[in-house]
Amino acid sequence: MTVLVPGIEGRSACTEERLLIVGLGLIGGSLAAALRSSGFNGQIVACDPNADEVALGKEMGLIDSGGTELAELLENVSMAVLAVPVLAMESVMKTLAGSLSAAAPNVVITDVGSTKATVRECAEAVFGCVPSNMVLGHPIAGSEKSGVSAANPSLYLNHKVILTPEPDVLLDALVRVKTLWQACGAEVLQMSVERHDQVLARTSHLPHLLAFSLVDTLARQDERLDIFRYAAGGFRDFTRIAGSDPVMWRDIFIANRDAVLSSLDDFEAGLARLRQAIECGDSDALIATFDRASHARHYFDTLLNKTSYQAEYHMQPHGKVTYRVRPGGQAQGRLRVPGDKSMSHRSIMLGALAEGVTEVKGFLEGEDSLATLQAFREMGVAIEGPHQGRVTIHGVGMHGLKPPAGPLYVGNSGTAMRLFAGLLAGQAFDSELTGDESLTKRPMGRVADPLRLMGVAIDTAEGGRPPLKIHGGAALKGIDYDMPMASAQVKSCLLLAGMYAEGETRVREPAPTRDHTERMLNGFGYPVSREGDTCWLQGGGKLTAGTIDVPSDISSATFFLVAAAITPGADITLEHVGINPTRIGVINILTLMGADLTLENEREVGGEPVADIRIRYAPLNGIDIPVEQVPLAIDEFPALFIAAANARGTTRLRGAEELRVKESDRIQAMADGLATLGVEHTVVEDGIDIIGNGNDQVPSYGGGRIDSLGDHRIAMAFAIAALRAGDDIIIEDCANVATSFPDFVALVQRIGMSINVGGDNV
Ligand code: S3P
Repeated sequence: MTVLVPGIEGRSACTEERLLIVGLGLIGGSLAAALRSSGFNGQIVACDPNADEVALGKEMGLIDSGGTELAELLENVSMAVLAVPVLAMESVMKTLAGSLSAAAPNVVITDVGSTKATVRECAEAVFGCVPSNMVLGHPIAGSEKSGVSAANPSLYLNHKVILTPEPDVLLDALVRVKTLWQACGAEVLQMSVERHDQVLARTSHLPHLLAFSLVDTLARQDERLDIFRYAAGGFRDFTRIAGSDPVMWRDIFIANRDAVLSSLDDFEAGLARLRQAIECGDSDALIATFDRASHARHYFDTLLNKTSYQAEYHMQPHGKVTYRVRPGGQAQGRLRVPGDKSMSHRSIMLGALAEGVTEVKGFLEGEDSLATLQAFREMGVAIEGPHQGRVTIHGVGMHGLKPPAGPLYVGNSGTAMRLFAGLLAGQAFDSELTGDESLTKRPMGRVADPLRLMGVAIDTAEGGRPPLKIHGGAALKGIDYDMPMASAQVKSCLLLAGMYAEGETRVREPAPTRDHTERMLNGFGYPVSREGDTCWLQGGGKLTAGTIDVPSDISSATFFLVAAAITPGADITLEHVGINPTRIGVINILTLMGADLTLENEREVGGEPVADIRIRYAPLNGIDIPVEQVPLAIDEFPALFIAAANARGTTRLRGAEELRVKESDRIQAMADGLATLGVEHTVVEDGIDIIGNGNDQVPSYGGGRIDSLGDHRIAMAFAIAALRAGDDIIIEDCANVATSFPDFVALVQRIGMSINVGGDNV
């Protein structure tokens, strides 16, 4: 009797096959067991040199028939799975080649070998080339147990199977092999033979080698010291795989020699660095390595658990996150929203380049700022934390960064990419900056062009888009630059590059933009001057570490300011919010619209003004938004559009073309969403007119399904809109809310709204 395994039961789509498993060990036996569990009712035949294994396979109900002579078992076989050790492949293939005529006409051959180049070579030696009905593959699953008695129907469930098909493979063969593994509950991937062997050398073969080696080394000493007796959990965890099948692993190391040796070289170099650090008592180097490793390990966990973490963007698209927000609800309470994103990025950047140790409080643990933090770790900076917003950065000085091993990934963040561009332009090494899909569409010419004027060699992809390749070692010279757009990111990029340039770097802005870079540089003892619309600094200075207290982000607070502004009876206080004069456009605009908003407990924290903002409901009126307020509220417009949709009369925005090149085209994305809700509006190139219903109509608008286009602020704005909607608002593609506001949903619930988070069918 076969037990059905939940997760694979009923998956089988290959009941027509007559399957021959060559080699009925753990891997072959588990394949049979998994197929049986999935409801497969085709024939399973097995061939194994050990007659007892075949008999046991039959007794366990895994196979229908079998034997020890391959040539005798091929009749009518439609698919053969070669589950023998890699070094035995050649002789198996020879037998197959001699007797294949007995098999069904469209027979498919596949294998489970742990190295692929050797198996491909075997096929080439035996058949002249890899036959087009042969699909090489490798299930990434195993156990230190062996033999058919250890067959496990769940062995492949949620594991990966890598197929390495040749370019001329028959599509039918590829699909059938894929279906076979999917029926076992596996996730099937494809890659080239070469890549497979390199990846496996690093992720599987090397750790096995280390485990074998460590246990063997200690076992020899054990003869004298009896130390296994005292070995605890760490030893057990690290060495579990040393119990694996010696013959199989001998074959793997011989078969994948070159890739294993190259991964071993890298490992030995790393070990030598650690040895040296221990020898010299270099605690910074030890912390840097362990910290990087520890974070990489957490990242690995989140990948496995498919939870969100900044670096997950690197490897795979986010799982879909959808919000369903019920109409109505309340807007009440005292809240503290997370730390300011702009300041969090800058705190890490300047802290890393400073001399001494910088302590940061209130750091935003969102995916974007975590990506910045990780990028500095990859450049050799020791960073402790974040632990509840606290980060300790062991600065390496202006010239202490190390070349990263690969491209630096900055996630969704235009700020990070543009600021990094300036900072990396001053380094002696080459670097590359990449980001997620949304960032890849955003314009980088605005920083690449002026950096080139400073003497930087920088390449972009077509149309000035990411990735950015920065050639290090250039002699930078200061420039006097009139920014064509009001951009704090461009200004900051040039000031950071200016620190490495000869002479003075001056930047003129067409309208005031956020000045956190200037304030923080001054705070780190690097003088930046300002007169009117121009700021400047001299190259060649240095930064001195200090403490940074990051206030709450007014851009995140905005969603709750608007929530209270549109909800009758609302009363919300947001604590410890940064109210830097270059950021308070939203306060000015809401006040002009008639919002009842007061600043309490105003104070200065670490060079930045901070206050608690209290906002109570009062009816809003449409206004013409003063154009000088636009750069001061640039990130707040998605939420302000919702305020406008609830105001009496028309709100008119102009001079906001920059909104079109944010994480999405925010004018169009908001207009599309407003259209879904039934809010009247007219879009123009640099703005929008929104005709609000005021309180004349309750609800103000309907509900519907909105595409946030992966833009965090579009998603959050429409979530808040539900307070005055007549029906549910369903918002798609919300995973990126975690880039700036990881606990948004919890706070939305806290003020009295009902929001559910789920996948596609929330
Ligand atoms: C930012 C500047 C602004 C803003 C962004 C953060 C910064 O961008 O939209 O979210 O931290 O310097 P621009 O400089 O492109 O206006």
